[in-house]
Amino acid sequence: MTRPITDLFAEIRKATDRHRARHGCSAYPYGNGPLLSALAAAVRARRILELGTALGYTALSLAYGASDATVDTIECDADHVRLARDTVAATALAHHITVHEGDFAKMLPTLDPGYDLAFFDGGTPIPTLHSAVRGLLRTGGVLITANLTHDGTADAVQKALFDGKFWRSASVDERGETAISVKL
Ligand SMILES: C[S@@+](CC[C@H](N)C(=O)[O-])C[C@H]1O[C@@H](n2cnc3c(N)ncnc32)[C@H](O)[C@@H]1O
Repeated sequence: MTRPITDLFAEIRKATDRHRARHGCSAYPYGNGPLLSALAAAVRARRILELGTALGYTALSLAYGASDATVDTIECDADHVRLARDTVAATALAHHITVHEGDFAKMLPTLDPGYDLAFFDGGTPIPTLHSAVRGLLRTGGVLITANLTHDGTADAVQKALFDGKFWRSASVDERGETAISVKL
């Protein structure tokens, strides 16, 4: 029997789908915000990094899970940045979330290391970005990587996450679309 999932941010998820249909962009909202909330709570995250904000659905899910946390989320599309800032500002979590405008590769070096949790949802995973995110995570910190079933560079990232050298990883779903990885 399939049970309904309660998602506090379901309306923002739907708004993201509506926006994508109009904008013709790549703002596909992540499929399971409550999973991110639960992981943020389990990690007791204080500092969270997100790559790929879109309209803020997952930034809010992460912030909701760890009420003491700050979330730094990065987005390059100016329309998404504006919409995400407006969306976040209308919630009680506004003071916990900073939407950084810019390209991942340019923004990551400007952030201070020591993140407890990172979520990659910015298109196809790329090895250089994953190395940069790894450098920002504390040892024992958790990385959630979406889009691992994309072709191309996702294969190399998947291999690095699962070869047992630098991460302890598990797939969240049968298809292997999302992995949870602990930094060794
Ligand atoms: C799949 S959407 C993120 C969805 C969001 N996490 C959610 O669940 O609602 C990916 C986002 O990453 C942004 N993005 C893609 N490549 C980027 C890059 N190199 N730098 C910054 N943002 C990027 C896109 O503009 C898009 O808004």
